[in-house]
Amino acid sequence: MGHFQQLVTFIVLLMLSIVSCKPNLQLNTHQTFIVRVQNNLKPNRYANHKTWYKSTLKSLSFSINSSHTRTQHNHGLLHVYNTVFHGFSARFTPQQAEELTNRPEILLVLPDRLLQLQTTRTPQFMGLTGTKDTHGIIKESDSGSNVIIGVLDTGIWPERVSFHDHDLGPVPSHWKGKCDGGDNFPENLCNKKLIGARYYSTGFYERQQGSARDTVGHGTHTTSTIAGRHVANASFLGLAQGVANGIAPKSRIAVYKMIAIGAFGAMEKGVLFSASGGNDGPTDSTISNVAPWITTVGASTIDRRFPADLVLGDGRVITGSSLYTGHGLPEGKYLPLIYAGNASISKIDDDEDDATCLPGTLNKDLVRGKIVLCDRGDGPRAEKAVVVRDAGGVGLVLANVEPMGEGLVADAFLIPGLAITQSKRTTLLQYIKSTNNPKATLIFKGTQLGVKPAPVVASFSSRGPNSISPSVLKPDIIAPGVDILAAWPDGVPPTEVATDKRRTEFNIVSGTSMSCPHVSGVAALLKGAHPDWSPAMIKSALMTTDLHGRSRWQDSTGRERLQRVQRLWFWRWTRGP
Ligand SMILES: *[C@@H]1O[C@H](CO)[C@@H](O)[C@H](O)[C@H]1NC(C)=O
Ligand SMILES: *[C@@H]1O[C@H](CO)[C@@H](O)[C@H](O)[C@H]1NC(C)=O
Ligand SMILES: *[C@@H]1O[C@H](CO)[C@@H](O)[C@H](O)[C@H]1NC(C)=O
Repeated sequence: MGHFQQLVTFIVLLMLSIVSCKPNLQLNTHQTFIVRVQNNLKPNRYANHKTWYKSTLKSLSFSINSSHTRTQHNHGLLHVYNTVFHGFSARFTPQQAEELTNRPEILLVLPDRLLQLQTTRTPQFMGLTGTKDTHGIIKESDSGSNVIIGVLDTGIWPERVSFHDHDLGPVPSHWKGKCDGGDNFPENLCNKKLIGARYYSTGFYERQQGSARDTVGHGTHTTSTIAGRHVANASFLGLAQGVANGIAPKSRIAVYKMIAIGAFGAMEKGVLFSASGGNDGPTDSTISNVAPWITTVGASTIDRRFPADLVLGDGRVITGSSLYTGHGLPEGKYLPLIYAGNASISKIDDDEDDATCLPGTLNKDLVRGKIVLCDRGDGPRAEKAVVVRDAGGVGLVLANVEPMGEGLVADAFLIPGLAITQSKRTTLLQYIKSTNNPKATLIFKGTQLGVKPAPVVASFSSRGPNSISPSVLKPDIIAPGVDILAAWPDGVPPTEVATDKRRTEFNIVSGTSMSCPHVSGVAALLKGAHPDWSPAMIKSALMTTDLHGRSRWQDSTGRERLQRVQRLWFWRWTRGP
């Protein structure tokens, strides 16, 4: 078995589309494409594949015409890929892509796009109790110390204490990867923990730094979830306080700031490929990354919440979720409540106001001094608190609407605010309509542990059935993905609000991107304990046994559980696409 196969577990954590970066398919515009090539068709006259690719680009009529590519001696060639798939990336127009597609050696031409990031207690919650464990895969794998995890994401903030290399043995001698220096990222930032750093930024990461440094946050968060070292007294502004550690704290990390394709090639090379299933639930058939060889991960809750209460004027209490850590309302101070749908200056249609609190939509005269009920919808959730504040409002209630249902994620709002479920929204609207003087107060309750039931599948977690091949059941597995604490870079606000001036070493984020690294971490532990296992064996073990190697379907109620699972399969099977 090759070293690569033995040692590398590649993990993919990117997903979905940042609205402004959707592929722009205007016919005459140059954009970056990724081209997969059938490499064994290379004619002998080319010394190597790169020369061949350049020649391919050059030979196309468009290369000669395009001023954009003509100025580049590589004829527009941006990157050559040769690990998990073969091919290159280059800039040309969609029309020209079409032309390329007709060539026999070209397998696929894909527009390169910045995918939307789908973007601690979880190790304990999952049954991994830490390095002092005397049994189980933590021990057997020595916390994954011989496993190298490739993380394809937005890069890393290498100075975070989660990535120190104290007490780690030498870098596995078989490691052949590189640590590329770059902007604000000297090579010597790599160590025995972070053993590789590459960036492929010429294309769509143009707006980012030319190095593996993470200027988004996503990659730092996911990487520390997979393999962060133990950090005492970690918290987000005092919330979720405790020892933070990744699932495979001794595994080595190689970060690749890039997008993720070529999973099948990775699988063939003995690399397990896990990917997030997407955050488009709970609507049916929203699951992405559905190829059978990918381990597709959905998101669940854990037994930790960040509860906040909205106490209504009539004494009823609506409990929601919040990471607000500023000054609350003075105790017993009730403020008037208003529904944004009745305080908006922008109309959806003739009789309905926009209730989603987008920037500039609130009527200041109606909102001033009030708690505003906003519906979820377009725009970052935390931004709505800023919109309310800028309109003179003093509190935010952010409500789920159809089809979001009863799942909540917590946000670090900049004014007193909480998220509530769809059914609580109904209750609250009824209350607002029922009285001439609707009012409420807010109470924030910090971190609550031991919440039951857990895990519960997150409502945002994308659902099956698999729309491409309904007989391939997806997602394969769930893992913690709601309100997950992990490391965060400097210089990046903890919310998606650009004007948020707060800076934190850890952040709490939700998404299937947060659940995927938990599975990647456990896969690394399994690989460390069983170096001879293939990716398929690891995937099978992940799906059918618990962390102590016991079958998921056999316990005191084993038979019953198996029947339930079969019924579920049958239900999904018969339901069809
Ligand atoms: C290249 O330029 C020539 C002359 O302007 C034009 O006739 C031809 O159609 C162009 N080819 C492409 C692919 O744009
Ligand atoms: C733990 O962190 C909190 C919040 O950052 C801080 O207030 C507290 O002093 C720290 N405790 C210790 C023992 O370092
Ligand atoms: C919104 O305004 C309309 C018209 O004044 C009123 O009938 C309705 O009850 C209001 N809805 C809420 C939720 O305040």
